Amino acid sequence: MKEIIEVRLKTRTVDFSKCKTDLLVVGHFSDAKGLDKVNAELNRKLDGAIERLIELGDFEGKEGTSAIVYGNANIGAKRVLLLGLGERKKATPDTIRKTAARAANRAVSMKAKNMSLALHRAVGGRLDPSKMGQACAEGTYFGSFRYDEFVTENENGRPEKLGVEVIESDPSKTKKLSKGVNNGVIIGRAQSYARTLMNRPANIINPVEIAKAAKKLAREHKNLSCTVYDEKKLVAKGMGGILAVGSGSVNKPRLIILEYTPAGRVSPKVPRVGFVGKAITFDSGGISIKPAPNMDQMKLDKTGGIAVLCTMKAVAELGLGVHVLGLIPSAENLPGGSSYRPGDIITTFSKKTVEVLNTDAEGRMVMCDALHYADKENCDIIIDIATLTGACKVALGCYMAGLMGNDEKLIKQLQRAAVDSGEKVWPMPSGDEYAKEMKSKIADLRNIGSKWGGACTAAAFLRQFVGERKWAHLDIAGVDIFEKGTETSAEGSSGFGVRLLTSFLMNLAAK
Ligand code: BES
Ligand code: MN
Ligand code: ZN
Repeated sequence: MKEIIEVRLKTRTVDFSKCKTDLLVVGHFSDAKGLDKVNAELNRKLDGAIERLIELGDFEGKEGTSAIVYGNANIGAKRVLLLGLGERKKATPDTIRKTAARAANRAVSMKAKNMSLALHRAVGGRLDPSKMGQACAEGTYFGSFRYDEFVTENENGRPEKLGVEVIESDPSKTKKLSKGVNNGVIIGRAQSYARTLMNRPANIINPVEIAKAAKKLAREHKNLSCTVYDEKKLVAKGMGGILAVGSGSVNKPRLIILEYTPAGRVSPKVPRVGFVGKAITFDSGGISIKPAPNMDQMKLDKTGGIAVLCTMKAVAELGLGVHVLGLIPSAENLPGGSSYRPGDIITTFSKKTVEVLNTDAEGRMVMCDALHYADKENCDIIIDIATLTGACKVALGCYMAGLMGNDEKLIKQLQRAAVDSGEKVWPMPSGDEYAKEMKSKIADLRNIGSKWGGACTAAAFLRQFVGERKWAHLDIAGVDIFEKGTETSAEGSSGFGVRLLTSFLMNLAAK
């Protein structure tokens, strides 16, 4: 199997025009009055080529647009890639992140061996340099990511390595920038690892394999520990939800428990956080089987769980001062002679009983056991993340995740993290009206609501299992996948969640 593209990223102090590179990446705002310092210097050495490009109207600096100018003997770069940053006042770290992703995607496609980013320079002092370094690094990993570990033909080959540097001519600025770059490298790598695992099909990765990956992670990071409940332990604990969903497959279910304990003293003000991520390695729907078209996409039904796994990796490497429990209930939802059935009544870990009316509403069945576990483990805050409902995809499309919860402050904190990370969320309800639909006549709960508001009723179901804890729910059905490749990304898994959850923790730990 091929490794993913090895991206090496560093920060370097060098004169922009002297920098020797295959691709020098600079930004330009659509409403800029003339060229900024870097572009002006390059323009001079390129005999006015950048100015001519703009005067001719070939490049206006609109977000998403680009132009290439070839180097000459006066500059070190073979090519200068100008990328549009849009309007100056609208620029955020995410503008830089997306632009870096666009550059990295291009660099890989043109088989460049190296790339030098001077994007932060156009923004000037308006945004925090460390945040910009982070955005450059995250964007670089995001855009250069390819999933081709099973492609054995070399014709469509891509470079094995990409050397990337964030460059700055002023040595007094390099330090802050490089701190951000280093954080961004950790987060970007964690997200790329997540995308690799998420993209792996169900014949390669199953609950046992995810558990192995978690164990390996814990071995490699001394602040992480890992416990795995196998099917016997799940029976002993009474985790009926996870067992029911896993009963139809030869690949047995697991509950994976990762714990991050920070090295130093943790401020008592910092809450203990529990993440719960849905990891259905394949969701056929079970006995309530799904239609055939696009069923292959249901290999991505483990996205939430992998996002939790890789957030734990990032947190451990960042060494954040916050205690985190990462719970990953994992099962394969298949029809078979031993599958759970519509009509079955399942006793969950919490002792609450659930009437199963559709075996395709399996996410909530595995999540409820893990949520109750998080409650019992005294997590002050519980955040769950799951490709839970097609209804959420219908409501929000592929651009943002649904965000539900029972605590306004927590909702705000997640909205903040969404802005910081560029992984967007949108608030949705999950209160009493929806909870009422989830009551059964012959058990405590039923696993589906009425025809309408499916994302909200699903969240209302989960809400029953968090006790009095502060809780938020992210429905990431829709944002888990790029059905087609984009300017900033290859097609397939988006890795959604790793940046969002890590940003949330970074903000908490910064308190
Ligand atoms: N994993 C699916 C949700 C999903 C759908 C994710 C499309 C990504 C894209 C989930 O397990 C599911 O099947 N939900 C059902 C619930 C229904 C039976 C109440 C759905 O959305 O149809
Ligand atoms: Mn399902
Ligand atoms: Zn599912």
